[in-house]
Amino acid sequence: MTDQIQERFYITTPIYYVNGVPHLGHAYTMVATDAFARWHKLMGDDVFFLTGTDEHGLKVAQAAEEQGLSPIDWVDKVSQGFVEAWSKLGIDYDDFIRTTQKRHYETVSAFMQTIYDNGYIYEGPYEGHYCIPCEAYYLESELLEGALCPIHQIEAKVMQESNYFFALSRLTEDLLSWYRDNPNVAIPESKRNEALGFIKGGLEDISITRTSLRWGVPVPWDPAHVFYVWCDALVNYATAIGFGVDQERFERWWPEVHHVLGKDILRFHLVWWPAMCMAAGVAPPKQLIVHGWLLVGGEKMAKSRGNKVDPLELVDSFGLDPVRYYLLRETPFGADGDFSYEGLIQRSNSELSNNYGNLLSRVVAVVVSKLGGVAPSSSRSSAIADEIVSLAKASADAWQRFMGHEAIEHAIEMIRKTNAYLEANEPWKMSASAELEQILGDALEVLRIVSILLYPAIPTTTEVVWSRIGMAGQVCEQRTSIALDWGGYPGGARLVKSEPLFPRLMLD
Ligand code: MSP
Repeated sequence: MTDQIQERFYITTPIYYVNGVPHLGHAYTMVATDAFARWHKLMGDDVFFLTGTDEHGLKVAQAAEEQGLSPIDWVDKVSQGFVEAWSKLGIDYDDFIRTTQKRHYETVSAFMQTIYDNGYIYEGPYEGHYCIPCEAYYLESELLEGALCPIHQIEAKVMQESNYFFALSRLTEDLLSWYRDNPNVAIPESKRNEALGFIKGGLEDISITRTSLRWGVPVPWDPAHVFYVWCDALVNYATAIGFGVDQERFERWWPEVHHVLGKDILRFHLVWWPAMCMAAGVAPPKQLIVHGWLLVGGEKMAKSRGNKVDPLELVDSFGLDPVRYYLLRETPFGADGDFSYEGLIQRSNSELSNNYGNLLSRVVAVVVSKLGGVAPSSSRSSAIADEIVSLAKASADAWQRFMGHEAIEHAIEMIRKTNAYLEANEPWKMSASAELEQILGDALEVLRIVSILLYPAIPTTTEVVWSRIGMAGQVCEQRTSIALDWGGYPGGARLVKSEPLFPRLMLD
């Protein structure tokens, strides 16, 4: 069905600030990226999936101070919380980077030194309103009336320090021509246009070092400075594959990199990072995949708003796959979505339980009652094959375009069609015959194909279905180029009735 070309596929999530515990917004980025990585494994690609934590900067240093801990003790503790959360959400990453690791210090030094040696970094004065208790500069727009610090409500005095600047403005033309030559580099298209808007609006050079803060990676050519946290954070994508340390490994994966990110950090990834790569003499990333926000009551989840939803509590209450399914299915990828418990329950009950689960249980029930439990094979000529195959192709194509919600929608449509086909033919009223075998063989074939297409979203349950329909091996071992072709269900397995796949969910 889909041509199988072995490709290297390096995919990343943003690295999360360790100023608090992971919330559902973080989980949203994670589950989407995990699904894309799983899809590409099914495609036969050589996949490397990176995530991690962003551990420097003022925000983290302040969070540590509030807890009465040293920054390193704090980040060790909070970072571990992310590792545990991702394990509970079934996130199958290959590497977890922490920006306080030695390997990261080495790569940041090498990467930024290269930019410096290439002449894109210069020293200059930085002036701004500085709040001493905060040890931070504030933009005028952030200050309260009378130039007061918004936190301490004391005057933030105008201060000047010598900083290093990255000559972003000099790369304006290079960025514009890169976007022109690579129309699909940023998806969805609206986000590409947003990035182009920033660039065309005029880029200013950026201050990339600080002397007012010690919690950061030292600047190799002037250790009185540390790098500004965003500058250090973006380089993590190069650290994990060995930039400056293991060049062969770096070149193996770069630039086959796909960065998944939320729209709030678009400017850093779609403008700064490609420019930093260009200045370092490295090809810019292959693709930037931008998603919208998951809102609660119309607002972005944030510690300060007290509206954070704990993804782990959701998994405890509703089960892992219904939560993953909801995150991927409910909101068109790229748009904002609003989280609700009712929405999660409704999706799980109507699509997973009433459709997917129901198809499995009714097919198994008829195989058991009419065919002594022995599954028939799929037939070559089937009334539904063409329609199913074209939906399967559409689903595979949507995964390939990172449109998970669309991929799932096509897969669910395959199940709906098959349930309707069963209702029209009523195999439960038929006696054992070639016709009955064909109908049940068709339905089992759809369950086989759909389980592959839904696997990136709900890996645990699709494996259960795979084994309950008597397929050998595991879904994760399938290669979609052949596995999605009609006619792969071998039959012959002995099927047994078991408990419902998805219990019906209810609000307490
Ligand atoms: N540390 C930076 C990223 C550095 S990457 C080199 C950062 N961290 S973050 O923890 O604040 O956010 C990480 C990711 O979580 C971002 O992609 C952000 O958009 C995503 N989300 C945080 N809240 C979110 C929602 N409410 N909804 C969807 N995604 C959200 O930014």
